[in-house]
Amino acid sequence: MCGIVGILAKRPVADLLVDGLRRLEYRGYDSAGIATLTDGKLGILRAEGKLNKLAEKLKRETLSGTIGIGHTRWATHGKPTESNAHPHATDLVAVVHNGIIENYKQLRRELELKNHAFKSETDTETIACLLSDYLQQGKTPQQAMAAALKRFDGAFAIGVVFAGHNDLLMGARRGSPMAIGYGDGEYYLGSDALALAPLTDRISYLEEGDWVEIHHDGVIIHDETDKVVKRKICQTALSGKTIDKGEYRHFMQKEIFEQPTVIADTFSNYVTSENTFTLPKLPFKWKDISRLTIVACGTASYAGMVAKYWFEQLARLPVEIDIASEFRYREPPLPANGATLVISQSGETADTLAAAVYAKKQKQYLLAVVNVPQSSMARLADVVFPTLAGPEIGVASTKAYTTQLVVLLCLAVEAGIARGNLTQQQAEKILQALREIPAHINEVLREEEKICELAKSFVDKNHALYLGRGALYPLALEGALKLKEISYIHAEGYPAGEMKHGPIALIDENMPIVVLSPHDRLFEKTASNIQEVSARGGKIILFSDKKGVAAIGAAAFWSMALPSVIMEVAPILYAIPVQLLAYYTAFAKGNDVDQPRNLAKSVTVE
Ligand code: AGP
Repeated sequence: MCGIVGILAKRPVADLLVDGLRRLEYRGYDSAGIATLTDGKLGILRAEGKLNKLAEKLKRETLSGTIGIGHTRWATHGKPTESNAHPHATDLVAVVHNGIIENYKQLRRELELKNHAFKSETDTETIACLLSDYLQQGKTPQQAMAAALKRFDGAFAIGVVFAGHNDLLMGARRGSPMAIGYGDGEYYLGSDALALAPLTDRISYLEEGDWVEIHHDGVIIHDETDKVVKRKICQTALSGKTIDKGEYRHFMQKEIFEQPTVIADTFSNYVTSENTFTLPKLPFKWKDISRLTIVACGTASYAGMVAKYWFEQLARLPVEIDIASEFRYREPPLPANGATLVISQSGETADTLAAAVYAKKQKQYLLAVVNVPQSSMARLADVVFPTLAGPEIGVASTKAYTTQLVVLLCLAVEAGIARGNLTQQQAEKILQALREIPAHINEVLREEEKICELAKSFVDKNHALYLGRGALYPLALEGALKLKEISYIHAEGYPAGEMKHGPIALIDENMPIVVLSPHDRLFEKTASNIQEVSARGGKIILFSDKKGVAAIGAAAFWSMALPSVIMEVAPILYAIPVQLLAYYTAFAKGNDVDQPRNLAKSVTVE
């Protein structure tokens, strides 16, 4: 989950490296650094904290050189200090690294016995020292790289420059993505094509186990057996333009407000105005599928949980939903004629990617709902369903989540018709409700101020509970996650009916309980749970519709009536107040909303 850039050019690269890192800051932002070669000598600049710190340092201490590597870090081994920041270097090499070298302790012991001195607590430094060791034994950089790669366990991507070699930039990929960019007389390396978008739109991707040597006169790619191989160069449609916040304070706020547009875009990508599906063709028939397995992490997994309700109710299709980090090591048996659906904003989340690989090995049809169409997951899947959310920069996922829900509901409706469980008329009712969702979201967004006021009462809270039933239960989990990750308030999501089995013991006047409950077939059940909480002094914050708000009346400490919608689309609409509440609480606390502490946007390590 760190970001890597490398450039081999004929012009100074230091500023270009920092620009590239800026577009990768979503991958980590606790420290950053660059290394360049000037007349064959390594120069290194690193700074603790956000990338701006490095950029300021670069203004004071210039770094010349026409070849270099850069890194923005999300700490795994060792605190986010300058000494642990990448690049890690010896006199002979400088290395940037994303991922984890799992056997680094053993390698470090071995290298220390050979008198290699370590200056950091990182696993990355073992790469630099091992490469140096091989160079000292007389190996060429290429031989050193080939030999070193065979010694590392784990998933990683690396970029390397070698002292004395102004014409050589090297990279490798195992488990973590790495793109090569082809420019006009210059070449680039990047953790993803987005970093390279301002420099070139001609990209090739290293495949699993590949390593690459880049020279001024061309690129040589080797596979894991060191054989020279060709990898296709493709044109990316990624924009090189800097993505800015426009009139908004934060990317998260902008992304919340973009939802009516991106939801409409995503919907119309899959459904015509005559309610005909334009979903990509599947390699199977829905009625032949024995089970759908959904795997994802974090917010994407909550979208998957909502989809479980939809597929089961609308298509009577059995669904298993699992957290990718559990799924991949549990190695569950998967049924014959089963399909696995992975959901991911980035398409690069290490655990979800590993789960996808496992599912494919188990001969499952692999479907992917992703927001980055060139991502590793998209390239692995049999069928890709892109969400048209556009780049999501805020670490807290908002528009990716609701657009995932749009795609998933369309798929569930398509499956419902195909499996004979939904009539055309029933399907059209749901699609019509989906079509109207952007307008309803706009209505909720107009209530922003009210939620902003409510958020002020959360600022001094240490804990909060979120309750929901049915497909609103996953949203309770999502609401709690949103609040936790940006406001740092401890929050839990619960199925409302589960309160009496334990969590009700937590209730006191200091605990806000956010209830997500439209006036649907489950409303009366939740209303009883509200009474139980209220009778014990709990403060209910109710998001319902007019009917629901009226029914609960004074038992709620605070309430908001959302537009009335059919229950199938409620999980999409009710996501909006939940996001706004987290956003305004974090804002009122003065937190860094877009880059909350300890997190990174894309989690490409386990
Ligand atoms: C959500 O707000 C998160 N920051 C996080 O849970 C995220 O959803 C998760 O890491 C999965 O990411 P992905 O969608 O890119 O796979």
